[in-house]
Amino acid sequence: MADATLVTGASGFVGLAVTEALLARGDTVVAFDRSPVPDDAARRFARLPGRLVSVQGDVRSDADLAAVFAAAPVSRVLHAAVITAGPEREKTDAETIVAVNVLGALAVLRACLAHRVARLVSPSSVAVYGQQPEGSPPFDEETTCPKPIMLYGITKLAAEQSLARLARVHGLSFAAARLGSVFGPWERDTGLRDTLSPHLAATVAALRGGDAVLNRPTRGDHVYVRDVASGLLGLLDAPALSHDLFNLGSGVATDVAMFCAALARHRPAFRWRIAAEGEAPSVVTHVPFDRPAMRVDRLVAATGWRPRYGLHEAAADALAFFEAHPAS
Ligand SMILES: NC(=O)c1ccc[n+]([C@@H]2O[C@H](COP(=O)([O-])OP(=O)(O)OC[C@H]3O[C@@H](n4cnc5c(N)ncnc54)[C@H](O)[C@@H]3O)[C@@H](O)[C@H]2O)c1
Repeated sequence: MADATLVTGASGFVGLAVTEALLARGDTVVAFDRSPVPDDAARRFARLPGRLVSVQGDVRSDADLAAVFAAAPVSRVLHAAVITAGPEREKTDAETIVAVNVLGALAVLRACLAHRVARLVSPSSVAVYGQQPEGSPPFDEETTCPKPIMLYGITKLAAEQSLARLARVHGLSFAAARLGSVFGPWERDTGLRDTLSPHLAATVAALRGGDAVLNRPTRGDHVYVRDVASGLLGLLDAPALSHDLFNLGSGVATDVAMFCAALARHRPAFRWRIAAEGEAPSVVTHVPFDRPAMRVDRLVAATGWRPRYGLHEAAADALAFFEAHPAS
């Protein structure tokens, strides 16, 4: 077996999307996660030309990581295991969040060095930018000062910067990709992500014929997961990297009401509205402020990647996907 890609967090939202994209082009993927690959994904992946090797374990454990590298020769690693903590988990389990998101990342880096991996790519998050002043320009890797608010964003920034520093010190080829707010196929409740996207709830409501009641439309860089997967593959594949930090978003600011309108084009009976005073919302955005788009020209220049899914393409694809794979 040659040239396998190790994906940590492979049973999560982004991990499954990247695994599917790699298998679809015939690659070998070593899928590592504390949970097994979900059954419907495993069935779908079995029909793809690539080879899937699944290993269960914890990214904080050197022994578990050693077992992964023993399972197949790995030359590239996408590190996507994470805890996406909301306020309740921050209050009760801060140590585990920091241990997984920061120390887990460092354990993966150690394993990459020990096994002479050629490239490590690690998703970071738009959350590192925090809340910038109203009317701020698009988020830029160089000029926008990170101001994470919650522990999730704080740990993502710590992991991104620690990995970049240590990769430089050790001469490991590394890129962090700050993802926008991701939505689309394979999103599900892993028990470790407290902030499921409003797009998922809206898509489910459109499929079930129910109304969607939004807490707020929330503007930001909402990016389709298939575009995230192709951008991450671009960073894994690029022969050389111009930088070790890239934004990976749609490049445009959209809001959840715009996505609902796109869903309604494909499901004309679908209705949505902003919750009235005292009304319980059924579609919740966890970000209580608007954000600008992310600049993605650095990634475009480095890899030739471009986002392919506008809101209408994304709505059509997501409806088809979740009709075939009902959200759990
Ligand atoms: N989903 C988004 O909107 C979004 C936005 C920005 C950045 N990201 C980044 O994308 C990456 C993937 O996030 P996601 O949305 O797919 O999350 P997810 O919760 O869907 O998946 C995370 C996976 O990591 C696994 N995991 C957690 N702790 C582990 C451990 N100790 N050992 C082994 N596996 C463990 C979980 O079982 C899960 O399958 C993360 O780096 C995240 O910060 C996601």
